[in-house]
Amino acid sequence: MGIQFKEVSYAYRGLKVNYDAIKHINLDISEKGEFIAIVGQTGSGKSTLVQHMNALLLPTSGNVYVFGQTLPPKKKEKINYLRQKVGLVFQFPEYQLFEETILKDIMFGPKNFKNTEEEAMIKAKKAAQIVGIDESLYQQSPFRISGGQMRRVAVAGILAMEPEILVLDEPTRGLDPKGRKDLMEIFNDIHHQQNKTIILISHDMDLVSEYAKRVIVLKDGKIVFDGPKEELFEHPNFETFHLELPTSLKILKHLEKVAHIPYAPKYDFPSLLSYLKEVAHE
Ligand SMILES: Nc1ncnc2c1ncn2[C@@H]1O[C@H](COP(=O)(O)OP(=O)(O)OP(=O)(O)O)[C@@H](O)[C@H]1O
Ligand SMILES: [Mg+2]
Repeated sequence: MGIQFKEVSYAYRGLKVNYDAIKHINLDISEKGEFIAIVGQTGSGKSTLVQHMNALLLPTSGNVYVFGQTLPPKKKEKINYLRQKVGLVFQFPEYQLFEETILKDIMFGPKNFKNTEEEAMIKAKKAAQIVGIDESLYQQSPFRISGGQMRRVAVAGILAMEPEILVLDEPTRGLDPKGRKDLMEIFNDIHHQQNKTIILISHDMDLVSEYAKRVIVLKDGKIVFDGPKEELFEHPNFETFHLELPTSLKILKHLEKVAHIPYAPKYDFPSLLSYLKEVAHE
């Protein structure tokens, strides 16, 4: 089950020419236990790719299967079912918000998926609490809050639907470092406590190296790498992917050169620091 792409291509239709945004994509994503980062330069097709995961876009050619259903499903009501199963937080949260108040906005999803008003309210409040939206904001307009808060409201709206797979298109963009860390920890908790698959688009290689297990690299609409992060950062063609190395690996490579400290892959600061302490004591 989970999500499969078989030879999926998508072209945006232009007035004169069509633009091939993703080309011949093959993918297999389990519904449980994966933490996948999708990376690649701007315009490489990341957002286009993930919008196929809940039928916001349908392939120009090839097939997408979500929880055993071919997209588009024959029955229209199945689309709602899939959108509940695969929760997608858009790259631009302001496109996702539209109700008069923040609370109503977060309740929209669960209400749409056959919950009573009361159930939707309980789920919405729980989700708001998880992402740190204070009760005092519930009755405010979602359009009069900061970009970072809008992002949290959009995330809460998706969490309130209790999806099986969570797809996040640059969820931390525009957040300050603490907000970024807090939100990533929320996703990480959901992943670890509920074993849910998380698919994260990000340009931030520090976050990618710290949280993701598997990384998919897109270049010009094609997958040029799909595998464990440990392999990605040591890949002989890494430079051709046009990605930054995570800061911790940059530091370790530098220390190897200037101080002859043996290189060892460490993907976050705590493990980098404890490694350096270890070497210092030797
Ligand atoms: N609605 C659209 N109409 C026409 N072309 C589009 C449309 N949306 C995206 N594209 C084009 O498709 C390509 C892939 O876009 P996409 O948004 O998937 O890239 P991305 O990897 O998400 O980039 P970013 O990192 O900037 O978010 C780009 O060249 C973009 O210009
Ligand atoms: Mg994008």
